[in-house]
Amino acid sequence: MNQLASLIQQDRPLFSPVPGIYSTLPDAADQRYDRYAKMYDRMIGSRLYNRLMWGTHPAAYTQFAAQAVGTAGQLHLDAGCGSLVSTATVYANTKRVCVLTDISLGMLQQAQKRLLQHTHTQPDNIIFLQADVRDLPFRPDTFSTVGSFGMFHIFADVAAFAAELQTYLTETGTLYFSSLVAESARAQRMLMRLNKMGEVGGVWSAAQLAAQLPAATITTKGAMAYGRIDHASAFKKAD
Ligand SMILES: C[S@@+](CC[C@H](N)C(=O)[O-])C[C@H]1O[C@@H](n2cnc3c(N)ncnc32)[C@H](O)[C@@H]1O
Repeated sequence: MNQLASLIQQDRPLFSPVPGIYSTLPDAADQRYDRYAKMYDRMIGSRLYNRLMWGTHPAAYTQFAAQAVGTAGQLHLDAGCGSLVSTATVYANTKRVCVLTDISLGMLQQAQKRLLQHTHTQPDNIIFLQADVRDLPFRPDTFSTVGSFGMFHIFADVAAFAAELQTYLTETGTLYFSSLVAESARAQRMLMRLNKMGEVGGVWSAAQLAAQLPAATITTKGAMAYGRIDHASAFKKAD
């Protein structure tokens, strides 16, 4: 608790709604993801779903997260960690202090359970925090790496979201992100449908995503774009 409290702005509340999970959201309203936690796990963890729908593979998600968490540095933030369906092994195997945030307590509980399957006791270096990634409670310049995996398609203003996450990076830190992109007709149809349902904020190709994030280096595997923004280079490009 003390370590987490030292990362958080003084005027933000901090409490523990359930053992092993902290929260900065006393009035958490948007809990629709709680209902999806189990279904989400089955879907996103499915190789068949990922291959057919998005032309990709869950192992690619794990590999990208391992790259972010494997970067030398102090603190790591995961903005929208979900249930750790693709990242539990990454967090089970790191010695870095990682703050894993999600708005959904249900997702965080699922994440906690999944991590325990690998570690058997909750590791001291992994902190679960219920928080809204659109209004994170941290002090600026705190994290050496920020990862936001499978999150960038959720918000319509992706540039504003990236800029918000960058404020929590140290000067030499790196933001790692991934986003579903409309790189096939099937992915485009599915993203449009999810957009109408309010589950996805933006439907864009990898090139359109890159145009919104000029400081990013982006590669694509199937309908998933993987990107990184080095904080220092983002400053340079903005000059
Ligand atoms: C597509 S999942 C990605 C989860 C995880 N990063 C992964 O790769 O499996 C979206 C996650 O974002 C969380 N989420 C949605 N809106 C959020 C917000 N405003 N703040 C924090 N988490 C949010 C949901 O609860 C859900 O766990």
